[in-house]
Amino acid sequence: MPLDKFERFPLLYGPSPVHPLDRLSDHLGGARIWAKREDCNSGLAFGGNKTRKLEYLLPDALAQGADTLVSIGGVQSNHTRQVAAVAARAGLKAVLVQESWVDWPDPVNDKVGNILLSRVMGADVRLVQEGFGIGFKESWQQALEEVRAAGGVPYAIPAGASDHPLGGLGFANWAYEVQQQEQELGIFFDTIVVCSVTGSTHAGMIAGFAGQDRPRRVLGIDASAKIDETRAQVEKIARNTAELIGLGRDLRDDEITVLEGWAGDLYGIPVGSTLDAIRLTGRLEGVIIDPVYEGKSMAGLIDLIRNGDIPKDSNVLYAHLGGQPALNAYHSLFH
Ligand SMILES: Cc1ncc(COP(=O)(O)O)c(C=O)c1O
Repeated sequence: MPLDKFERFPLLYGPSPVHPLDRLSDHLGGARIWAKREDCNSGLAFGGNKTRKLEYLLPDALAQGADTLVSIGGVQSNHTRQVAAVAARAGLKAVLVQESWVDWPDPVNDKVGNILLSRVMGADVRLVQEGFGIGFKESWQQALEEVRAAGGVPYAIPAGASDHPLGGLGFANWAYEVQQQEQELGIFFDTIVVCSVTGSTHAGMIAGFAGQDRPRRVLGIDASAKIDETRAQVEKIARNTAELIGLGRDLRDDEITVLEGWAGDLYGIPVGSTLDAIRLTGRLEGVIIDPVYEGKSMAGLIDLIRNGDIPKDSNVLYAHLGGQPALNAYHSLFH
């Protein structure tokens, strides 16, 4: 296995569950949809995709003698909540820069959901007035400096644990986990659908699947409403990860597909198709998805099946990446 040479700090229960969504598949009358559940991949604070990525960053942090994980996200960031959980699990401190990425006027936005959980877990939560952006931010550099100035040893984790040399490994490993589960289930998923924002989830998958014999489509659905940036970031991390795991060839352009059309105008603001997807998935399957990420990728999946882009004889694997705690801040949409 190409990932075996990398040190991994186990944070997950094991392989995340894979199960069919039969009532949703029947309702759409097309492809058979299955879900792989990163929202229940771990016992750490409701899990999610970052917990899987952090399995590969944590050994690096420990090897460097870090005592504080320093990361960044929006006020309702799922990522920073998972950093808080991983820090607690590893006996480290966490400093979390929470920027105003989403102009969401709910009075409890900075009190409930993810940010509440991070506070419960003892993270040093810092609210900063700054807009959305997945690049390196000044507020984050400043937090790193402050930890150093106080005599600590910070470990820098960028937004979504993505733009980091090891950021793609967690989901490259996921691709091999899927291959193993396919063998056990006697099924082949010809299409993967995954939400993409900071990019390393989708990118890691691309690199991991590229090393396998049977080709398949790995469709990223942009939820940032900044399609050019998302594409560029996915491409960069996919190529970096492919090289890191020794793919031995360049990735082809047609292996990197990020689709737009379901993000609406702004990151973090759901649109009609997002809310329809959340209600449909909840009502037909009892599966909960969120208005920032998974509601948008599910809306994409629904449309791609309805319009025949994903054919009827397809077996689709929907990557459920977590994110439900943020729903609390969006309660007003469901009154
Ligand atoms: C629930 C959820 N889904 C999808 C994503 C997108 O993953 P990535 O940032 O690796 O592209 C994130 C994080 O950004 C997330 O928290």
